[in-house]
Amino acid sequence: MAARHKKNESGFDRRTFLKTVGAGGVAVGVLSPSVADGQGANAVGPGAVPIQLNINGRVHRLEVEPRVTLLDAMRTRLGITGVKRVCDRGTCGACTVIVEGHTIYACSTLAIEAQGKPIRTVESFTEGTIVHPVQQAFAEHDGLMCGFCTPGFVTSVVALIEKNPKPTREQALKALDGNICRCGTYVRVLDAALDPKSSTGGRRG
Ligand code: FES
Ligand code: FES
Repeated sequence: MAARHKKNESGFDRRTFLKTVGAGGVAVGVLSPSVADGQGANAVGPGAVPIQLNINGRVHRLEVEPRVTLLDAMRTRLGITGVKRVCDRGTCGACTVIVEGHTIYACSTLAIEAQGKPIRTVESFTEGTIVHPVQQAFAEHDGLMCGFCTPGFVTSVVALIEKNPKPTREQALKALDGNICRCGTYVRVLDAALDPKSSTGGRRG
């Protein structure tokens, strides 16, 4: 499960992201999504601009500078802390979220670019006091030690089994190759992903 680049579904890939934000974190303006749609340039920023994010079925309205990442917007502005910040550079998967069925790194996605698409975080998997079958499988297989990588792994497994409820070992390895566990719980994470109990989670939204 070595680090793998996850494509930003907005078409704003990591290379573009890094160029835009700048290595020193300098505030710069960015182009609005209309540019990506070929509708002409419409620069916004560098000051805060109003945006709307649809996260876990709820619309959040906030103002952020265009350089703010989806991860920062969620953790520091909206209190959605299930997404973890570890590397903050698109290599570890701790910040994995699901956008339209695909996993992306929230740390490598600008909040402004995440507008208009439903975003799902690990918080959405639990219904009241009932945990998601994938979370149950992680617990039963001891698929965590410090647990810091776990939300990202659980999110990647949920995205996998929603598309493919009965993945092969190879398919599970491929789906998880963008997530890193520094405690080395890979074998148990894989056991959890392949547990038939996890596959029942594919029927949930
Ligand atoms: S914190 Fe986003 S990939 Fe590591
Ligand atoms: S359980 Fe500690 S980093 Fe994965």
